[in-house]
This record gives sequence, C-alpha cells and structure tokens, in this order.
Amino acid sequence: MKNIDNYCYFCGASFGNFNFLQSVITNLMKKYLAGACLVLGATLSASNIVPQPAKIKLGNEGFLFRGSESISVPSYSNDSVKKVVDLMIPELCKGAGTKLEIGSDGRIAMRLVPNLQPESYKLCITSDSLIISASRPVSFFYGLQTLRQLLPVASATPTFVNTIEIEDQPRFRWRGFMLDEGRHFFGKEAVKRVIDMMALYKMNRFHWHLTEDQGWRIEIKAYPKLTTVAATRKGAHLGWEKKQTADNYRYGPYFYTQDDIRDIVAYAKERFIEIIPEIDIPGHMQAAIAAYPELLACNPKEKHEVWNQAGVSYDVLNVANPKTIKFATGVMDEITDLFPFGYLHLGGDECPTEKWETNPQCQKRLKELGSSDYRDLQLDFYNQIVKFLKSKGKDRNLIFWNEVLHGNTDLIGKANSDMTIMAWVDWEKAAREAADRGFFTVMCPIIPYYINRKQSIGNDEPFGAGAGTETLRATYQYEPLCEAKEEKANQYIGVQGNFWTEWVESESQLQYLMLPRLAAIAERGWSPVGVKNYDNFRERMRTWHAPYYRSKAWNFGDHELK
Ligand code: ACM
Repeated sequence: MKNIDNYCYFCGASFGNFNFLQSVITNLMKKYLAGACLVLGATLSASNIVPQPAKIKLGNEGFLFRGSESISVPSYSNDSVKKVVDLMIPELCKGAGTKLEIGSDGRIAMRLVPNLQPESYKLCITSDSLIISASRPVSFFYGLQTLRQLLPVASATPTFVNTIEIEDQPRFRWRGFMLDEGRHFFGKEAVKRVIDMMALYKMNRFHWHLTEDQGWRIEIKAYPKLTTVAATRKGAHLGWEKKQTADNYRYGPYFYTQDDIRDIVAYAKERFIEIIPEIDIPGHMQAAIAAYPELLACNPKEKHEVWNQAGVSYDVLNVANPKTIKFATGVMDEITDLFPFGYLHLGGDECPTEKWETNPQCQKRLKELGSSDYRDLQLDFYNQIVKFLKSKGKDRNLIFWNEVLHGNTDLIGKANSDMTIMAWVDWEKAAREAADRGFFTVMCPIIPYYINRKQSIGNDEPFGAGAGTETLRATYQYEPLCEAKEEKANQYIGVQGNFWTEWVESESQLQYLMLPRLAAIAERGWSPVGVKNYDNFRERMRTWHAPYYRSKAWNFGDHELK
C-alpha cells in the first residue's frame, strides 16, 4: 500500500463482486470515456476531491452509469434526505452524463446508518453499486458533494467512476466565510453564488457583515432611514477601479429587504449553511448615525454623513444614551426574527473611545460601573442587548472580534463558554487568551485568511486589493492550531476566510480573489491535521476545480492553476 497524502491506492485489489466480463467491459469503457472526458477537461481519478476526505481507498475498477439510473432514498423526517438528493440531481446528471431520478430499484442508494456521527458519511462505489451511508441529511449532502467531484465536470455520455471507499468527517465544526457588504453591495444572486461555492467545499457558516460606516444593508422596519439615508453614500473614494471619485457620485441605496433576507437564509439552509448576521456595534456605525444622529450620536449637533473613505471612523455610537440602547435592541429584535440560528455577531472591532471620553452621559455611566476604562462602556452596552434578548426569549450565542478582550468581558453578562472570539489581529495571542478565559475561538487571521488581499507578489494583480499578499500556498499552509496550547485545542472550533470590500466593487472581482483561496481554507477546516501537501492540493485544483469554475462562469485567480 502506497500512502500518498493520506490516499491508499490499492493497485490490483478490488472490492464488491468481481465479475470478469464486467471488468473487461468496464476497462474498455474506461479507455473510451477517458478520451471523451479529456476533451471536456475532466479527469477520472479520486484526486479531485477538495476538501480531501479523511480516508480513501481507490479501487481499480469502474462503476459505469447507464443511460438512466434511479437513486433509492430512505424515509426521513419531512422527506429531508429526498430534498437533498433532489437538490443535487441536476449537478450529478451533468457529471454522470445520464438521467438520474429518485426511485426504488436503483444500484445507487442513500442508506441511513443511525450510529454515524452527524457530519460524517461513507461513500462506497463498487463495480455494481454506489452507496452513500449517513445518519443525517447534512451528511448525505456532503457525500453527494464528494460524488460530484468524482465525476467529470461535464459529460455528454454516461460516464463511470473509479471504484472507491471513502470514510469522511470534518476536523472542525466551524468552516466559515465572511463577506462585507457594507463597503460594497453585491446583491441576492451574487450571495447565492457565494453560498454555492461554500457548499461545494462543505463549508457551513456564512458570516454576513451587513453594516458599516460606509453603508447599512438590511431593512429594519422600525428604523426606515437605515435603508434610505444609511444605505447611500456620496462621492466615495473606494473601489479598485476608482470609478467613484466624482464628487456627485452616489452609491446606493443598496440593501436587502426582509423578504430578500428570508430568501437567502432559506437558500443557505437547504445547503446546510447557517448564516450569522453581523451588526457591528458600537464602532463602524457612522452610516446609522448619519440616519439617526438625534438617537445615536455622541454629539448630534456635529455633521454626520455616511462615510466615503476607508479606515476607522471616530464617529461611534453613544453607548450610554438610553435612546441608543432602544435603537440597538429594536434592531436586534428584528435581526433575531430574520436569522433564527444560534449565533449573533455583534462585531466590536476598531472602536475608538475618544468621543465617549468627552461625553457627560458616558462619563456618568463609567462612574456607575466603577471603572476608569472607557472600553468597559462597550461591554456594558452589550449587556443591555443580552438582557433584552433574554427578556424576549431570544438568547443567542454571541460572537465578537478579538478586541473585546481588551475590556472586562464579565460585564457582558454571559458565561464565557456562551461566547466566541474571532481571532483576526495579533491572532495567535488573541486566540490563546480567548481559550484561556474559556471562550471558544475561530481562527481568521489577517495573514493569511483575509482573502480580499492580493494573491500574487508579482505586478499582475489589479490595483489595491487591500494591502499585503496572501498567496494560495500561504493560505493553504497555515495551521490554525499552530500556537494553541494542547489542553485548550478544543476551544478552537474552526477557521474562517474573511473578505473586506473597500476595494472590491464587482462580483467578478470578489470571485477572482475568493477563488481558489476559499478552497484552501475549506480543506484546512475539514481535512485531518496531517493532510497537508500543497502540490497535491494544487493539482486537484488545477485538474477539476479550475475547469469547474469555468463551467460555472465563476471568475478566479489562476496564478497557480495554469
Ligand atoms: C476586522 O478586520 N476589522 C475585523
């Protein structure tokens, strides 16, 4: 047995019923179809799968699809396994080059095995059957995503797959991607495509950064000016192509209606992706303050406009004003109705305290708290939200950026074990500190998981995709537990790629920077710790994923995939 990057190649071995005649026919078909598939830019090996499964045994026979196949599906609550298969059938048909439908007498079967772990599955392909075993709809979905990548990108005639046995489960429970739509807005269809990309790579958390100094992007019925005033900016100096420098340039209003949100949440849920909304408070709130200065500003008499620059704004919420607290809780009331999942992200990064230091309400509140650290006002403000959510029966697991560790987190009024810290700046130290204090932590380090940044050190990158360069190799090589204390490793619940859009205006630019680096982060989040071979990963990406992206008309950085 030759062990290459966790693959076991069983030369000459077979499993399932060996039938000599069938084997001869299969091998003949293999030669014929290999030629046909080469034309389509596909390959016929297991080495396509990203993220790489935990265990693979590759056989040397083939399962040949017939002109029409049926898939048998176990009954499960609300037909949810059937729904998963229905969702995947169009993609599977494209690769298998055949007609697939749900039926009872098929060689292809989804088999319910209740004792398998929730996200794990087995895929067993012999020369006469193709079986996915799992205990939950989500794991059938993952098994079918793996099957998709075993098939050619497209095939005009019934194809075949190698015989294979896969046993698979994720390394981490959080495999995330964050998209900032405050700086630039991409719209419903673009977001659904992002979700498709995540689903292809078995990612399960879409962190949606919906509010910024530069724009508020979600309808809140109680505060309509958030989507008129706060969703539009003038004379912006943002964007790669610097289209927006004219003084009379208007960007917006761009926002998601509550119906749009429900539609996207449902789309993601069908693909087993939980959406975590981020309302970033109390900093990064200049757009909201421009809409409601009388409720939110530290000094309502100053001029407040939706910001049109990049950076950190000093115009932050007056966290000690009861009107601000009423606003924040009103927003959270609607947000928690729209996003029914367990997590809520309250941001907390990059919040200057200067405005609070000269504000009488803030000074008074700080005294009441018995503190001299203005950062504590921020944590006390979160406590007001926590109390409100509890009173409405809408308690959530809270997530923050790692700067909240600079204050007295006990003031938030939640057990640390109910909170998660996203480690982005000084990330290893922040993650260790979070874990030591009993928080969970998600690793999303600027270097190398900010995948809005350039991906090549050459001069072939378009202007200013954020400072710094994160190559595909660097993103792939990063080990999220590299500085974790062994006894705290369980506090590290996963990884996340972040995408900030100060400089990224279009969906095409977004995809160009996201892909293929998203796949590298997905592999780190899913595959066992020992699976790390960049050349092997790059080859899988080059042979199947790049052609797949082209087939979908998804833009991608091809620096490493030519
Ligand atoms: C961040 O990058 N400001 C979280």
